[in-house]
Amino acid sequence: MLGIGGGSVLDVAKLVAAQLENDQTLTDMLGIGNLKGRRKKLICVPATSGTGSEASPNAILVDDADNQKKGIISPFLVPDIIYVDPLLTLSVPPAITAATGIDALTHCLEAYTNKFAQPFIDIYAIEGMRLIAANIVQAVRNGADEEARTQVAMGSLLGGICLGPVNTAGVHALSYPLGSMYHLAHGLSNALLLPYVMEFNIPASVCKYAQVAVALGCERADDCAKTAARGVQKIRDLIRECGIPARLRDVNIPFEAIPTMADDALKITRLLKNNPREITREDAIAIYTAAY
Ligand SMILES: [Fe+2]
Repeated sequence: MLGIGGGSVLDVAKLVAAQLENDQTLTDMLGIGNLKGRRKKLICVPATSGTGSEASPNAILVDDADNQKKGIISPFLVPDIIYVDPLLTLSVPPAITAATGIDALTHCLEAYTNKFAQPFIDIYAIEGMRLIAANIVQAVRNGADEEARTQVAMGSLLGGICLGPVNTAGVHALSYPLGSMYHLAHGLSNALLLPYVMEFNIPASVCKYAQVAVALGCERADDCAKTAARGVQKIRDLIRECGIPARLRDVNIPFEAIPTMADDALKITRLLKNNPREITREDAIAIYTAAY
């Protein structure tokens, strides 16, 4: 099975490979570790720089029955071969380059600041943040820049490697309802929430967020809190320079939807448990309101 495309395409290729010569249904496979095996060889070739699906054990689908995003997580979904060719991304339009690039940066950031972070994966996460922050704006502004595309593609792959051993956290959990309820692209959903979840999380892990800021290219300040704040500002600057909308209201999310989105996000316990600070329903509402 050879998958070539963005995150959804690769996730489908992974699941098709897993379902060939296997009588398990998708429902049987849902959750962590329920897929019993895979008999077909699987090769994934990303055509966007963002998803990390080519290196992750995850496949994410929207269940039409309840309109929730659900995950099938299994080591058998990690491809046998990954082929990353940045030339495949040269024709990706600026808005998709921007959103997918911020998604990849978020994979690295949420792995590094994760409650279950580990030093071995931190190395990939730090380098992924550095590469993407330094090159994403150029890749958006000049899609034909092969050097910028190559660096962002490498950062995306590093982010994908973070997904298996550590995975994401609050940003991804809170972004899921934007995708399932309003069909916002995954990367855009993350970008809209990233600065606000960072601000919420910083008190729980201030020196790690200072390291994030340094990886993003910020100068160190007198203390960790000031350095961490520079990191949040840097993310806001990147989002603005990439032309990504900055507020939920800018993408037509109704203010009244916030309590329902908070209820849905709290169901994503497999990611919320990774967040460095516990997110209650009230916290989720406050984060969405700030992002609005
Ligand atoms: Fe993601």
